[in-house]
Amino acid sequence: MIQIMPKVDRQDLFIRLFHKAVGSQWSSDDVDWEAPLGLEPRQAVALTRVLTPVYLGEQTAMLGASAALPQLAAAGQTSAQLYLATFLMDEARHFEALTQLYQRLNHNPVSIREVPEMLRYHHRLRQGDRIDWLWGILISDLFARQFYFGFAKVQPAALFGQMSARILVDESRHQAFAHTYLKQAMPSLPPERRQGLRDMQSELLRTMEAINQRLHDDTEALGLDGHAFIGELIAQIEAHSKSIGLYDDDAEGGGTGSGNHAAWARLIERKRAISLRSGGLVWPRTDAVALDPEEREDLARGKASRRRYHYFDLHGLARDCGQCVIALLCRSRAVQAGCTI
Ligand SMILES: [Fe+2]
Ligand SMILES: [Fe+2]
Repeated sequence: MIQIMPKVDRQDLFIRLFHKAVGSQWSSDDVDWEAPLGLEPRQAVALTRVLTPVYLGEQTAMLGASAALPQLAAAGQTSAQLYLATFLMDEARHFEALTQLYQRLNHNPVSIREVPEMLRYHHRLRQGDRIDWLWGILISDLFARQFYFGFAKVQPAALFGQMSARILVDESRHQAFAHTYLKQAMPSLPPERRQGLRDMQSELLRTMEAINQRLHDDTEALGLDGHAFIGELIAQIEAHSKSIGLYDDDAEGGGTGSGNHAAWARLIERKRAISLRSGGLVWPRTDAVALDPEEREDLARGKASRRRYHYFDLHGLARDCGQCVIALLCRSRAVQAGCTI
């Protein structure tokens, strides 16, 4: 129920973030549109294409915030509600400024028909409640932040480098908010909800990898290493997962090894892949029926038992893919299709 005069504490982190956001507003009018592009014609086209998922993400974040805001109000979380109002405005400004950039570059974004995974990603973010949304938005913000950071660092004087530096400041606040909110909410979430968030993480990452593959020629034209990008992103997401306590229930997905036999047994029954904190995927063998303590410890350390599990080191794959002797085979369409679980 709406309150006429809710308590607002100026020392609350969300209120401090709110004031920071209010004090650091900017718009496309503040961008130096005469700054050099610093890109070859092919690279300018590549930027408009590689930027598309991020551009769509800005709009998605704006719309998602508008849906989460009433949920925060209904829960009586006034400080989070106030902060999210600035978040919404931030994403609106990013969306508008990038729209101006597309006009300056005189190229359209990639179409949904060419990269349909962008729409899948967008729809996945809209499922669930504010907790689901904030976890998805934290992952998306980490993606966007890494993307902008690369341009701000490599081309600080160029037009997009300058814009990236401005957007990065806003994205840092978004990250701080989502991280803090989730960390506070995590202790009250039952194991099924945490597992749902972990499943969402895996799904979003798989979708990002698929988008990355579709835009491979463009990332190459810009001199970006898509595999290294995803590898670094996974490492950052894992660090945040651990810090907010997403794995503190320790039931599934590579906990600290305190052990919960019933939960591990459920894992086997489900006969489907689960992600480990180490960044790998474990796929239970169909003939696996029980776990002994040693196997539980192995799983907790990210080592899957050869007898009962198949283990895929996704983090290592993302980091090292293309380096081994069978790289050519791995890049074949048949193998790529088989790997998209
Ligand atoms: Fe943004
Ligand atoms: Fe953001």
